[in-house]
Amino acid sequence: MAIKTAEPLQVRWNPEQPIADVTRMDEPAIPPELLEEIEELREKFGRELVLLGHHYQRDEVIRFADKRGDSLALSQFAAAEKDAKYVIFLGVHFMAETADMLTPPDVPVILPDHRAGCTMADMADIDDIEDAWEQLADICDTSEIVPVTYINSTADVKSFVGEHGGTICTSSNAHKIIRWALARGEKLFFFPDQHLGRNTCYDLDIPLAQMSVWDPEEPAGGHSPEKIRSSRILLWRGHCSVHQHFQPRHADIWRERIPGINIIVHPECSFEVVQKADYVGSTSHIIRTVSEAPPGTSWAVGTENHLVNRLGEDVSAEGKQVHSLAPYACLCSTMFRISPESLRDSLRALLDGKFRYRIRVDEETKHYANLALERMFEITC
Ligand code: 13P
Ligand code: SF4
Repeated sequence: MAIKTAEPLQVRWNPEQPIADVTRMDEPAIPPELLEEIEELREKFGRELVLLGHHYQRDEVIRFADKRGDSLALSQFAAAEKDAKYVIFLGVHFMAETADMLTPPDVPVILPDHRAGCTMADMADIDDIEDAWEQLADICDTSEIVPVTYINSTADVKSFVGEHGGTICTSSNAHKIIRWALARGEKLFFFPDQHLGRNTCYDLDIPLAQMSVWDPEEPAGGHSPEKIRSSRILLWRGHCSVHQHFQPRHADIWRERIPGINIIVHPECSFEVVQKADYVGSTSHIIRTVSEAPPGTSWAVGTENHLVNRLGEDVSAEGKQVHSLAPYACLCSTMFRISPESLRDSLRALLDGKFRYRIRVDEETKHYANLALERMFEITC
């Protein structure tokens, strides 16, 4: 059946082209004095400062993370943090917001560049979601709909799901969370990532025919009332601008080039790509699977390039080959905004008692968003 997904990008790949030349990015060399200054500044804070970093950060930034992980692990680190007076988040805006909600109110959470957002989170605007909910109320009984948001969403959206009996998921607990939601209500309303929603529901044996994409730009999401009533899963029309680059034919090309290669992808990839993959999972799952694989194996990885390149370097001594699934660099340009310079500037400011840039969620929003986060943690463990 036809699935309404993000329009695939048409990319020509010359199979003769050397792999390394097309997936490696030329990033400017970082002056050693800059890295030394960051180290010196960081040392001045000792245990009063904790730096949390996501796997997509570039090498020159992630090296300063005290703890690194996927979104679930980073939220768990933030919730468990008891000693720190300050948190610097080496990630994107929604991650820093989540950390702010999970740390004590007097612990400032700093994002070195406040423009480091997430294009997917931007696709689910709270006004559009509230409008969709009102439209759904005219069609069906919303008390039977459980709203679940991917953690890649704003604090407002997290608060919405908390207030309406729903919760939050990450790529590593999506199965558990969606199972929980479907045990509580007749329908699941999942945002912002249609792909994570579709891939997980399909894996839970829900047929594609029971899933509909809610297009916020169309009245009633683009469906008739009958269609909405008969759909068990409503998927918001959102996607990740990085993971939409991976195409099913990339898997075919790699299998032709390197017989026996393993394909592993993030569940933000499209349904068609996930169906072609051997393994699917969160960023931590990808790292663990490739790291624990037998020596000499080959991998094509469908996720952000900094993770892929670093993983390749980490396992190369065991004779493992790691390539990007796409024939060009798939870069999360918003994550990339966290630069060594911006980290240094945030540390310099902190030394002067200033917060550059503090990410804060207001108390009212926090109330229900924290309820949704608490539910997520309860269901996850
Ligand atoms: P993970 O939770 O798997 O790290 O994913 C976060 C993300 O933004 C992937 O694009
Ligand atoms: Fe958001 Fe995609 Fe970047 Fe992840 S990779 S932070 S979903 S834009």
